[in-house]
Amino acid sequence: MSSNPTNSTASGKPVFVKGLDGIVAVQTHISMVDGPNSNLSYRGINVNELASNTTYEEVSFLLLHDHLPTRSELADFNARLVANRWLPAPLYDLLRQLPRDTVPMEALRTAVSALSFYDPEIEDISIEATQRKAVRLISQFPTICAAYQRIREGKEPIAPTAHLSHAANTLHMLGLPSGDTDFVRAMDAYYVLLADHGMNASTFTSRVVASTQADLHSAITAAMAALKGPLHGGANEATMNMLLEIDDPAKVDAFVDNAFVTKRKIMGIGHRIYKNGDPRAVHLNAWAEQLGRKLNQIKYFDMAHKVSNAVLRHRELYPNVDFYSAPMLYYIGVPIDLFTPMFACSRVAGWSAHVIEQYNDNVLIRPQSEYIGSNDIHYVPISER
Ligand code: COA
Repeated sequence: MSSNPTNSTASGKPVFVKGLDGIVAVQTHISMVDGPNSNLSYRGINVNELASNTTYEEVSFLLLHDHLPTRSELADFNARLVANRWLPAPLYDLLRQLPRDTVPMEALRTAVSALSFYDPEIEDISIEATQRKAVRLISQFPTICAAYQRIREGKEPIAPTAHLSHAANTLHMLGLPSGDTDFVRAMDAYYVLLADHGMNASTFTSRVVASTQADLHSAITAAMAALKGPLHGGANEATMNMLLEIDDPAKVDAFVDNAFVTKRKIMGIGHRIYKNGDPRAVHLNAWAEQLGRKLNQIKYFDMAHKVSNAVLRHRELYPNVDFYSAPMLYYIGVPIDLFTPMFACSRVAGWSAHVIEQYNDNVLIRPQSEYIGSNDIHYVPISER
């Protein structure tokens, strides 16, 4: 097969771009990430409007169906989300059998893969079946996280409840205060803000898998694997661990100075696309401050703020989405190694929307590699090496 001439140099050789930086691999209607202007929109609606006015349920519908739901569409969508909050019984057994030191992100990735054994439409990759499967996965993600958290604490999972919102039910199942309006609104805003984000590494992964016409659970399991790394979703946990390591606002400047001398990266800082600031960080900053003041534990917010200012004295690098979400989730009481799974609980809606978009106009995603190794090497029998 010949290469696309628009991706070739004058000599006809395909262009190599390390890390695919600046390469447009996909056209999408789902989210627009406008780096220079620090803007993000879902289906054309600015996330600043969504973060203040809507719920994760409404945003999930928007991402999956390309329009805001009417009252009756939202009621039906909510009912289906609520109805799917329970896991198949063997999933609880699976979570119980995992070694106790299994990190939650691995437990979640494994459980999502295992859910495929019990999904009644697993091999059906039609758009309608994939939308139904997406609803089931969106519902099941927080249940897996919370059930695993309880099990590794030696406790029984807390049953999901039908009368709470998606965000409140997450807190309820984690044994956190689901009746606290600030906690619930912060969690909901977090879910809304992280639901989709252009062609990030995990979303790209989900589309590569979908482009082979594999099923939704396969694509989402692969996306989970990509999300785990500290250069992607794992940065929220790394940020909180960094704040706990610094521990004292008075030590922030020395910590940051030393990080720049030793070339240690400051977690939660910098972004491949947003070079002038991440719009999501503005909302999470406000929530972290509000919860820190409410709990009289402003220290972690203060330290984060100081880290961000200290970094700016060295380089023009700004907090990304993971930076303030770290103290915010910490204040809510989410265990640190559950931060990345919480990210996944939100992003599952975006991943699903991308899988559907990929199926809708599919082409196998298959780039090339440039061979830069040796040539004309001959096989040497093992006895002569
Ligand atoms: N701390 C210190 N220096 C940083 C930095 C950070 N968090 N992020 C970027 N830099 C520096 C780089 O070392 C590089 O320096 P150089 O020009 O001297 O080589 C310069 O800023 C440009 O950064 P680069 O890594 O090329 O940017 P990128 O667009 O490839 O990477 C990230 C973006 C997100 C991978 C990077 O900023 C990072 O590793 N951040 C920390 C991890 C994180 O928070 N990830 C979550 C992303 S949402």
